[in-house]
Amino acid sequence: MVGRQKSVENNTHIPKGIIMITLNNISRSFIGDEVETVAIDDMSLTIKKGEFLSILGPSGCGKSTLLNVLGMLDHIDQGQFTFLKTNVGQSTESQRAQLRKQHIGFIFQSFNLIDELTVEQNIELPLYYHKVAKAERKRLVDEVLHRVDIAHRRNHLPAKLSGGQQQRVAIARAIVTQPDLILADEPTGNLDSKNSIQIMELLQQLNQEGSTIVMVTHAPEHVNYGTRVIELLDGNICKDNQISSQIELTTAEVSCA
Ligand SMILES: Nc1ncnc2c1ncn2[C@@H]1O[C@H](COP(=O)(O)OP(=O)(O)OP(=O)(O)O)[C@@H](O)[C@H]1O
Ligand SMILES: [Mg+2]
Repeated sequence: MVGRQKSVENNTHIPKGIIMITLNNISRSFIGDEVETVAIDDMSLTIKKGEFLSILGPSGCGKSTLLNVLGMLDHIDQGQFTFLKTNVGQSTESQRAQLRKQHIGFIFQSFNLIDELTVEQNIELPLYYHKVAKAERKRLVDEVLHRVDIAHRRNHLPAKLSGGQQQRVAIARAIVTQPDLILADEPTGNLDSKNSIQIMELLQQLNQEGSTIVMVTHAPEHVNYGTRVIELLDGNICKDNQISSQIELTTAEVSCA
């Protein structure tokens, strides 16, 4: 695997340690036929550039909802969400799309690759949206193909790949634009332990090179690849612990009781 060279034009090189995300007392509910489900309940959270934050918690506690909110794929009902000084609640759809495009890469549990496109074409797709020139697209795609160790499968369709290989392609697609923030919802959820370790090591390496990572996981052992872990219960944070002293955190520790 090779290291990254910075080259996508709108990568902003935000300095490590500055606040990227602030959630102030946010809530998100889903109204069903008869009941209202409170997925996020008055949550506050600060995430700094350079953190690798793991999110743990039982099924239904709001982990994916939180990730979708952070990625501006879902809205909040109450509170304030600030992303790099933008008040997301007061932004327009096109401003949010721009923020997503410029700063965020997604990795989903179910890979979400496009079946009809080859590995190479799947990875290249975000670069079209960034209007990167053809020669530069080829260079960037080659670089990440080698980085995630999938270059030998570049012309295959996703269906011809193993789960671990598909997830590596999904990671390549998420990082090819060199995003400041990588959001990963159970990135190893469909993988065996050998492939999981490979993915976790790759995420850790990306974090050490400067990417901020927010990862939902069901595997408590995976939090050790990160710098901080929060635990959710009933739509709120019940524990907030630093894993290592890589960066200074000011968030208070709370405990589930
Ligand atoms: N689109 C939706 N419509 C209605 N209810 C929803 C919707 N999305 C989430 N919910 C509800 O909100 C709560 C939180 O869901 P969420 O998907 O965030 O949980 P999770 O912690 O990611 O769970 P899991 O570990 O099973 O993935 C759940 O009770 C869920 O049923
Ligand atoms: Mg989920």
